[in-house]
Amino acid sequence: MDKTELWHRYCRYLCSCPEIGLSLDISRMMFNDSFFSRIEPDMQQAFSAMHALESGTIANPDEQRMVGHYWLRNSALAPTSSITAEIQATISRILAFANDIHSGKIRASRGQTFDRQLVIGIGGSALGPQFVADALWSTEDRMKTYFLDNTDPDGMDRVFAELGNKLASTLAIVISKSGSTKETRNGMLEAQAAFRSAGLDFARQAVAVTGENSELDRLASAGGWIERFPMWDWIGGRTSVTSAVGLLPAALQGIDIAALLDGARVCDEITRRPDTMRNPAAVMALMWHQATGGRGQKDMVMLPYKDRLLLFSRYLQQLIMESIGKELDLEGKSVCQGLTVYGNKGSTDQHAYVQQLREGVSNFFVTFIEVLKDRCGSSMQVEDGITSGDFLFGFLQGTRTALYENDRESMTITVDRVDARTIGVLVALFERSVGLYASLININAYHQPGVEAGKKAAGVVISLQKEVVDLLKSRQQEMTAVEIAVELGKPGETEAIFAILRHLAANPDRGVKAATEGSVADWKFLLKA
Ligand code: PA5
Repeated sequence: MDKTELWHRYCRYLCSCPEIGLSLDISRMMFNDSFFSRIEPDMQQAFSAMHALESGTIANPDEQRMVGHYWLRNSALAPTSSITAEIQATISRILAFANDIHSGKIRASRGQTFDRQLVIGIGGSALGPQFVADALWSTEDRMKTYFLDNTDPDGMDRVFAELGNKLASTLAIVISKSGSTKETRNGMLEAQAAFRSAGLDFARQAVAVTGENSELDRLASAGGWIERFPMWDWIGGRTSVTSAVGLLPAALQGIDIAALLDGARVCDEITRRPDTMRNPAAVMALMWHQATGGRGQKDMVMLPYKDRLLLFSRYLQQLIMESIGKELDLEGKSVCQGLTVYGNKGSTDQHAYVQQLREGVSNFFVTFIEVLKDRCGSSMQVEDGITSGDFLFGFLQGTRTALYENDRESMTITVDRVDARTIGVLVALFERSVGLYASLININAYHQPGVEAGKKAAGVVISLQKEVVDLLKSRQQEMTAVEIAVELGKPGETEAIFAILRHLAANPDRGVKAATEGSVADWKFLLKA
């Protein structure tokens, strides 16, 4: 298409939503003009399914749960008055709590005002808060935010080292819907130990966000932690950023959570309407369908041209891939669905993998995010009449054009600025697209059997490690992995046993010594009592 035709296509298909300061340009996606009319009946079915979901139907059939993240932004939509009341009460409690922390009404165990928060969680209980914290931090923040989002000991040590003697004014927020996720449990135990060795009372500096009566809830209650906030069963982890999971750390940081919720609420209103071409979430879901054949045949590369949106790709990677990446469809048929998401930010990535996007394997489409407002305040000129922001804009436009010229598809989301309201808008936009797309391809977007399988498999390895250690302790002699496997009656686990022993031997504090002569099958391991 020549430039004039492209301009007409741009005008014809631009989905412009001034109410949320957002537009979606799909002119560089390669659909033909009959695409939308052909798929409209399916889209209408997806709108009906979404309506049923928002009305409180069991939209997550495998877990027999309602799916209620949209109610968090407009509690009047909740299917029962008690849910409405719980949502409202929780938001009020979060605001009051943040106020008490900021004002010093609630103080740390040695009397300091809290000026740091350490958020401990993983997956849906961390990625949203991390994205929001990073996108919206400023030097005016009321509290600096740190995260433990893994069970990597060295990773935790780095965070504790950064906190240093500021632990005395650090509020720990432990987030886990299930309340039994091992990475989070370990992070909490390591944090407890760090507080203890600094002579601090962890319970007087800790808050839990979790499901009612979960392991974590009971622990926090019995331990007399400062506060507990709810995580309801009708909220999924990856759609929890507008629940206490995201709102509590955000409010404590000093972010305007009312604006964030409002942005999400207005975006929900727009993306709820069953008018496909005026609904950016529907248009985006259809573009995913068109680009990937509704089968995930192409990857989505997220390229926000704004440093503040760096973690958006990571957040979306979970939101989309954990929701869409499913083996079975709603009828139980094997479909192995997915939509791969990766990306960081422009123009930085132009100096990395964009080379391959432009010239290499054509197995992707790009979603650019353009932010119109460059910065707070005015810009210097880096060339005559030209600012750094003009360059950022120019690089985005240039890459978009270069990709198009080489038959690579892209769409562009343009937002006015990055602020709390816009973050709410973007979260709600993609949540809705995921829900609509899941309906189009007939899968349950709201369960995660694959994640559960990984959790179970890790548990099996940990049990095996305990057996191996017990055996070595009782034998007090050198043994190979093969011998141990035979003794345990688990010859099929020899490789796993070898990996366990090699890991233990690499960490001198674990007491396992390795004699590493010969092939790995001959390595001998000893654990002195
Ligand atoms: O989105 C999800 O459901 C998961 O990623 C969970 O958030 C993650 O496994 C952590 O679970 P929990 O919040 O129960 O600790």
